[in-house]
Amino acid sequence: MEKYVKVSELKPRLSELRKDRTVGFVPTMGALHQGHLSLVERCRSMCGVTVASIFVNPAQFNDREDYRRYPRTLECDLEILENAGCDIVFAPTEEEVYPERDNRVFDFGTLDKVMEGKFRPGHFNGVAQVVSRLFDIVNPDKSFFGQKDFQQVCIIKSMVKQLNLTTGIVVCPTVREQDGLAMSSRNMLLSEIQRKEAAGISRALFHAKQQAGVMTVTELRDETIRRINLSPELKVEYVETVDAAMQTVSEWDDAEEIFACVAVHAGEIRLIDNVQLK
Ligand code: PAJ
Repeated sequence: MEKYVKVSELKPRLSELRKDRTVGFVPTMGALHQGHLSLVERCRSMCGVTVASIFVNPAQFNDREDYRRYPRTLECDLEILENAGCDIVFAPTEEEVYPERDNRVFDFGTLDKVMEGKFRPGHFNGVAQVVSRLFDIVNPDKSFFGQKDFQQVCIIKSMVKQLNLTTGIVVCPTVREQDGLAMSSRNMLLSEIQRKEAAGISRALFHAKQQAGVMTVTELRDETIRRINLSPELKVEYVETVDAAMQTVSEWDDAEEIFACVAVHAGEIRLIDNVQLK
């Protein structure tokens, strides 16, 4: 596996490889787990060259403490990527990604007015800044994202359209721990009891999936909040039922596809998850 820190070294190497191979890209913030690896595997199955990036992007953290606390496990990540058959890893410094201050403000219309966009102001603008910059550097044929960050996928697709980018966006299913908890780099920050209780989040979502169409949308939302909050370790920030365009849904007939999305606090740690209800 080749490792690059500098844009000026990565770019010519990729130009050379691109001559006879398709380039697939998996952007990450490191602290890698099986969820990230599922994207790498998918990328390897679809592209000639697999590039992964590791960069904890300050621009997308609206909470400084969350940024400071975010796990950084570079040596371990490199070993994991090497074993997963990743071809190239790009682990830049902040200066490489942002040689100049990025003042761009994206307009995502209603897409970022709910859920993560509402509770983490500026978050998606920061995601769009870094991902557009990384796309510019890597110039991938296909890029791989997880359904775990459902709203992020929607934002990235909108950004690709707005900027007329050519990369294809491949969305991969959420990978879960045995007890159902969606894998996340933040899970390693949970205490033992929080980790155990956090399984209540996906349990409540799976229950909601079973009840879809039986309860009304509002009842189902309230029931999901109630079930998660049963644990004294968990506190719901939001449960939203939305369609594929992030519009709130209040009737089962309102949309073809309906998703239940949650954000939950386990102490200081904030976790998100979602399931498709319809
Ligand atoms: P990060 O949280 O490291 O996630 C990197 C990619 O892995 C994202 O596409 C995310 O959706 C996916 N992922 C995370 N957990 C997953 C799981 N349990 N199952 C499947 N996929 C999972 O998302 C980011 O980083 C950043 O916002 C980034 C896009 C890199 C921009 O900084």
